[in-house]
Amino acid sequence: MATDRTSLQERLEALKRAETDSSAVLEDDKQDFKIESRMAQAESSLKKEVRSRGREEGEDAEAPSGPVGLDIGTSHVIVAQNERRYIKTTNQLNAFFTIPHSKFAKDILVKNDVFFFEQDGMYYIVGYSAENFANMFDTDTRRSIKQGLLCSDEKEGITVIQAIILSLIQKPKRFGEVLCFGIPGEPLDGIGSVTYHESIIKMFIARMGFSPISINEGMAVVLSELAEHDYTGIGISIGGGMCNVCLSYLSFPVLTYSIQIGGDYIDNSAGAVVGIPGTRVKAIKEKELSLVVKPKDRLTTALHIFYNELIQKLQKSMERVFSASNQIPMISKPIPIVLSGGSAMPDGFTDIFERSLAKVRLPVEISSVHLAEDPLNTTAKGALIMAMTEEVAE
Ligand SMILES: Nc1ncnc2c1ncn2[C@@H]1O[C@H](COP(=O)(O)OP(=O)(O)OP(=O)(O)O)[C@@H](O)[C@H]1O
Ligand SMILES: [Mg+2]
Repeated sequence: MATDRTSLQERLEALKRAETDSSAVLEDDKQDFKIESRMAQAESSLKKEVRSRGREEGEDAEAPSGPVGLDIGTSHVIVAQNERRYIKTTNQLNAFFTIPHSKFAKDILVKNDVFFFEQDGMYYIVGYSAENFANMFDTDTRRSIKQGLLCSDEKEGITVIQAIILSLIQKPKRFGEVLCFGIPGEPLDGIGSVTYHESIIKMFIARMGFSPISINEGMAVVLSELAEHDYTGIGISIGGGMCNVCLSYLSFPVLTYSIQIGGDYIDNSAGAVVGIPGTRVKAIKEKELSLVVKPKDRLTTALHIFYNELIQKLQKSMERVFSASNQIPMISKPIPIVLSGGSAMPDGFTDIFERSLAKVRLPVEISSVHLAEDPLNTTAKGALIMAMTEEVAE
């Protein structure tokens, strides 16, 4: 793999050079032209607007004709591709729902363009369709990934995650196209194996005809958001199942880890207090939660409490891990923190995070805390940038 030949920092610098020296693209040598133009594409993609959309029912997955970024999260699976003027992301809900086999049920599924597959006498309805069905039956969907990692207790998990990926992308037009997917950092005191999760996904992606590479989720956040800081800073993704943290120094992921607490924990904890299902809390939270406005009822009070708990646990973990590490480089100036992921989206989250950061002691000085431009798509975008730099180096 190209990773062995050149460091990521060298590749990213090459991308920058390609942008500032546009004459490089005019070189006669055709090979150089190809590489330089790809580098320019990747570098300029750092600044491109992201246009995102959910996968429609009945819509066919696309066969990619360039590098691909893939974020396989607890809540969403997102594919990012580089279009001429923007980065296109398509997302699918990472959920499934099963109904027993019958001719009648099958006719309905087919007629309504529902995305499903058949296994062991059951129909597996996956993605956004699963949510619609679960609502109809007034119950919860199931997940193939819990707390960021492939579940060992859902035996169908692997088949389901494959089906979800296939609902978003087909095999590439060019065999061996680079696909970079995000993987979590090793969980602190956690459950599940990152190695198993990564290997299973890698095998499947390779079978589809891609050259798969992986990137730590926090590092993907750094690649997506910290170009102007020479990829030095702390990238944090706060998702549905976990928080991922990466301290990057000049694009080198010095320290990475995760804690298995995220939006699902907040929904389920607040739901348990108030006596309603986590999925109902999730819908209310996404629609109207503001951490700036005083809580108006028991549910919002509980949501504020569990959000504060999440922030404290995350920052305490940073204090613990960073202080125990002997790998922290001497960085001459304060470094930024960038927050991403759906759970960082409520109004006021970034400010609360910044204020409570004053209470923990980190061995690096922090210059600022800001929210990523498009928190739900940051990981997929960072993975795409990684895939593009990998193609450059091929
Ligand atoms: N507008 C919003 N306000 C509050 N929370 C939101 C909003 N949009 C999404 N979320 C929450 O963000 C979480 C999903 O975030 P995201 O898609 O980044 O997670 P993921 O990448 O699938 O999971 P993970 O990285 O933990 O494996 C869910 O808990 C969801 O309820
Ligand atoms: Mg995520």
